[in-house]
Amino acid sequence: MTTTTCIFDAYGTLFDVAAAARQAAAEPGRDRLGDVWPTLAEDWRQKQLQYSWLRAVTGAHADFWQVTQDGLDWALEASGLDGDAGLRARLLDLYRELSAYPEVPAMLSALKQAGKATAILSNGSPDMLAAAVASAGIGDLLDDVLSVERVGVFKPHPSVYDLVGQRFGCDRAEVLFVSSNGWDAAAATGFGFTTAWVNRAGAPIDRLPWRPAHVLTDLTGIPALAMGA
Ligand code: LAC
Repeated sequence: MTTTTCIFDAYGTLFDVAAAARQAAAEPGRDRLGDVWPTLAEDWRQKQLQYSWLRAVTGAHADFWQVTQDGLDWALEASGLDGDAGLRARLLDLYRELSAYPEVPAMLSALKQAGKATAILSNGSPDMLAAAVASAGIGDLLDDVLSVERVGVFKPHPSVYDLVGQRFGCDRAEVLFVSSNGWDAAAATGFGFTTAWVNRAGAPIDRLPWRPAHVLTDLTGIPALAMGA
């Protein structure tokens, strides 16, 4: 079936989630962070995601900004940096203006030129997503930014993926769903989307009941996939 609608995960897919810790580590006076930032970034991301899943399963929803702060607090303590309130504030500021991966603007432009609808579908709260989209300068290339806050539960709950059909009125099979999170691409396959997993790190495929239709190493191949090449 023809792809009409291209939907992107945000964090890790369009926006580089390691950029906050990497940038802070390069700032003057951050010698201790310089040694541990890759571990801090990984712990922060893993705890953020684990807390999102646990909150979804238990029905204890809080928005993604809260979950992001909770994940950071765990990661700072694990790295012995939990006493540094200035560092915590700086990392959170940087998280609100993460860089987009370099190929993102051209990729989205190509999709718009081909007449495809484009949108973000993310755990992020509306204000987080608005800040990230603005700082990346990609707002004009997106038809919408859909946040899970509309349904009050995190991915991979099916009610999140259902927001796409509600917004765009398309069939599930017309949607190309793009995520760098293997579990997100897998669950979206289960929902009925055509999926592309962006596996930048060369990670093993997730052992879940569903597999992504396509596996890419970055986003440059997305327009060709959407155009059925
Ligand atoms: C998101 C997370 C899962 O943007 O990366 O939804």
